[in-house]
Amino acid sequence: MGSAVNALTTDGDEFWLFGYGSLIWKPPPHFDRRIPGWVTGYVRRFWQLTSSPSCPALHSQDHRGTPEAPGRVVTLLERDYWASLTDHHEHAPDRVWGVAYRIRPDRVAEVKDYLDIREINGYTIHYTAFHPAPPTAASAPSSTNEQHPHAYRDGATIQTLVYIGTPDNDQFTGPQEPQALAAHIHKSVGPSGRNIDYLFNLNQALEELSPESGDEHIRDLAQRVRAIIAAEESRGHDTQAELPETSGEFQKVASTEQQEEIEKTVPGS
Ligand code: SIN
Repeated sequence: MGSAVNALTTDGDEFWLFGYGSLIWKPPPHFDRRIPGWVTGYVRRFWQLTSSPSCPALHSQDHRGTPEAPGRVVTLLERDYWASLTDHHEHAPDRVWGVAYRIRPDRVAEVKDYLDIREINGYTIHYTAFHPAPPTAASAPSSTNEQHPHAYRDGATIQTLVYIGTPDNDQFTGPQEPQALAAHIHKSVGPSGRNIDYLFNLNQALEELSPESGDEHIRDLAQRVRAIIAAEESRGHDTQAELPETSGEFQKVASTEQQEEIEKTVPGS
């Protein structure tokens, strides 16, 4: 990938990033637009290992497990490839909901350095057409997506960059039995926090994006993990209770330095 800023523009003169996992509630620095919407042609699955650094867009600092016991995070699979697999979860809607961020034009070069645009830790860079969701009462102007109503043009798409852990990377797990996957997420903890917080934060973020953005694969896993926790509690032994909970609250940062600082100091940030 070239180092010229121009090589980073994804849509005309603009640079847009699509987030489908933790990027939904952990934005990149220096964005000036955040738009809920969807991409097509993919299926979101919790089939990527994380023990070492994960998504480069998070500055490679999301560790939800340890090298001995890697946690799990989501990745996107190409729909045709997914259809060739035997998956316990059949639900795979056409629309994969997430958020597109536009990076401020004067900060693209800086964010480029932060994003570390290259293939790393099993993640590869892809470009995909993002469909902005029509503005609704729920997505009306707020402090984080105040530009949303103006960005929407009926049917128009935005070309976005997206990081995907493809099946040929060695952190890709392939199909997982849901109950075993839920049990694994329940027990995994890493330097970035509890794997269950990643799951619960993602589930909540997706439920909140739009009335139709909830993801059955994620929702089912969250329900299974809650059931495991409830069963532990009823036995008086909640193994995750002593660990600090990590917030899924949307956290806008002012600089790449501040983002790096948060990643170093806040568990699960
Ligand atoms: C993303 O959010 O777009 C990448 C996957 C993740 O880090 O959760």
